Amino acid sequence: MKIFLDTASVSELKEGVALGVVDGVTTNPSLIAKEKRPFRPLVEEICQVVPGVVNLEVVALDEEGMVKEAKELAAIAPNVVVKLPMTKDGLKAIKRLTGEGIKTNQTLCFSAPQALLSAKAGATYISPFVGRLDDIGEIGMDVVRQIVQIYRNYGYPTQVLAASIRSPQHVIEAGLAGAHVATMPFSVLEQLVKHPLTDIGLKKFLDDWTKSGAKI
Ligand code: E4P
Repeated sequence: MKIFLDTASVSELKEGVALGVVDGVTTNPSLIAKEKRPFRPLVEEICQVVPGVVNLEVVALDEEGMVKEAKELAAIAPNVVVKLPMTKDGLKAIKRLTGEGIKTNQTLCFSAPQALLSAKAGATYISPFVGRLDDIGEIGMDVVRQIVQIYRNYGYPTQVLAASIRSPQHVIEAGLAGAHVATMPFSVLEQLVKHPLTDIGLKKFLDDWTKSGAKI
């Protein structure tokens, strides 16, 4: 399973990349706004820092505007994937962009039927938002499971990118469901590293080592 960081923070991305486990990044207009930096220099720096996929989102709502912005974003760096919202115009734009060889990610997906349409339009990735479905009392991961199964049944190449991940449990479930990618905040990546028994075990090893007076 690929791990993407869901952040536009260059410092978080640098740390994640240094860990050697980050395959890409997802951004969105809210995450970009949080950085309080001009868009172009920020995303150019992100594209340099992240060796893998960099997801950048359009803000236009109409097909023509989306296609225009998508082409501008894709021209920033060869590793850019363009995020487009799950709307009728988003589907039309994805169809056109796929035809021109531009990689796309259909975002704000909340159901399997939406994901089926994205695959038919030729999206490279589909992003079901797990946490936001959980927030309204649904089981977000059920949607991921349904999408993975439908794509497998028909051999769609669209990759399932489990988004709006809030916990290590979400990451485990996304893996069990067969999602190709899980995108997560940096705090969740840090949680994946930690286990209390690792800390307790390490302390015990070092205490015993110190008491023994041994040296490497
Ligand atoms: C995905 O691409 C989105 O940026 C993201 O996962 C949204 O997550 P949130 O619901 O935590 O904002």
